[in-house]
Amino acid sequence: MRKKNYAVKNLRSIILNLHQYTAGKSIGEIANKYKLNPSQILKLGSNENVLGSSLKAKIAATFALEKVNIYPEVVSTELSNKIKKKYRLKDVEVVVGNGMDQILEMLVRLFLNNGDETIISVPTFTPYELSTLWAGAKPRLIPLLKNTYQMDVEKILGTINKKTKIIYICSPNNPTGNSMKEEDIKKIIESTDKIVFLDEAYIEFAGKSLLKWVEKYPNLIIGRTFSKVYGLAGYRVGYAFIHKSLINYYLNSITPFVVSRPGQAAALAALDDHDFFNRSIQMVKEGKEFYYKELSNIGVKFLPTNSNFIALNTYPKKSKLIATNLLERGIITRECTSFGYGGEYLLRITIGTREQNKRVLETLKEAL
Ligand SMILES: Cc1ncc(COP(=O)(O)O)c(C=O)c1O
Repeated sequence: MRKKNYAVKNLRSIILNLHQYTAGKSIGEIANKYKLNPSQILKLGSNENVLGSSLKAKIAATFALEKVNIYPEVVSTELSNKIKKKYRLKDVEVVVGNGMDQILEMLVRLFLNNGDETIISVPTFTPYELSTLWAGAKPRLIPLLKNTYQMDVEKILGTINKKTKIIYICSPNNPTGNSMKEEDIKKIIESTDKIVFLDEAYIEFAGKSLLKWVEKYPNLIIGRTFSKVYGLAGYRVGYAFIHKSLINYYLNSITPFVVSRPGQAAALAALDDHDFFNRSIQMVKEGKEFYYKELSNIGVKFLPTNSNFIALNTYPKKSKLIATNLLERGIITRECTSFGYGGEYLLRITIGTREQNKRVLETLKEAL
C-alpha cells in the first residue's frame, strides 16, 4: 500500500530543507494568544506605515473595483510610465511587481542557474537568501562588520567567482536601519560585471538615493516598494529600475497581471499624494529624534537609523525575552534572531506616532 505522504517524494531536494519565512506577527494572532483587545495592540514589527495610507489611494482603489472583472494591465505600463516620468532617467526602464518580493523572485528567474552563487551581507532581509535557495543556487553569507554594520567589501570582492551572479545590497539595511557607505557600493559595482541588486525599500526615509547610478552601470538594479512610506503593504506593489539592455529579457520572463487593478490604481494615486508622503516622513523624523533622546537618557544602546524603524541592543537580556514581554503588553516588535547573524540582543521597532512611541518607551523601561 502507498504511504499517505507519497506526493512528497516528487519535491526538489532543496525544498525539503527550507524553513518558512518568518514574518512580523499579526494583531489577530497576538490578541488570541494573550487575550488582548485587538484595538489596543500596536503593530510595530513589520515596518509598515502607522499613519495608514493615502485617502486618495484608497478612493482610487475603490473606483478601480468597478472593473475588477477585467484583467489588469499585463505589466502595469501606466504605473511604470508614471514612475519613469517622475525620475526621468536615461536608458533606464521601470518594472512593477507584486511587491518587491516578487521582483526578487524575478531576479533569480532571470539570473540564477542550479549551482550558481549569490553574495549577501548579513544580517539582512531574508528573502534574498530564500529566493537564491529556491533557484537551486548557493547564498554566500558575509557578515556585516562588527559595530559599524557596514559591508565587508574586501571579503565580498574576494568571494566573487565564476559562479557568482547576484550581489545583494540592502541600503538602508533591514534590520539594522543604517545606510551602506556610498563608496563601498561604488567599489563593488565598479569591481565586477555581476548583477548588483540594491534594495532601497526604505530610501525615502534616508533621503539620498543612488538611482542615478543605474544610468551609468548596466549591472545595477535598484528595487523600491509602495509598502513603506506610501502605506500600501496590503496591495503588494513594488518596482525596480533596470538598465534598458535587460528590459526585453525581463518582460519575456514575467508572470502576467501580477499587480491587481486596485493595487495599480492605489499606487498611481499615492504618487500624487504629497501631503501624505510628507506627513509620513515628518512623523518618522520626529519619532527618530524622540527615540535617540529617550533611549540615550535610559542608557539603552541603539543603532542610528535611516529607516522607519530603529534597532536596539537589549543586552544583557535577550531580545526574544523583551519582545515577549512587550507582546504580553500588546506591543508587537521584532526580535532579530531569525535574520541570519541577527544576534540574540537586537530588537527592531517600527517608529510610530508620538503617542505610540511614548507607550513603547514606557513599556520598554519596565521590560528591560
Ligand atoms: C529591505 C526590504 N526589502 C523589501 C521588502 C518587501 O517589500 P514588498 O512589501 O514590496 O514586497 C521589505 C519589507 O519589509 C524590506 O524590509
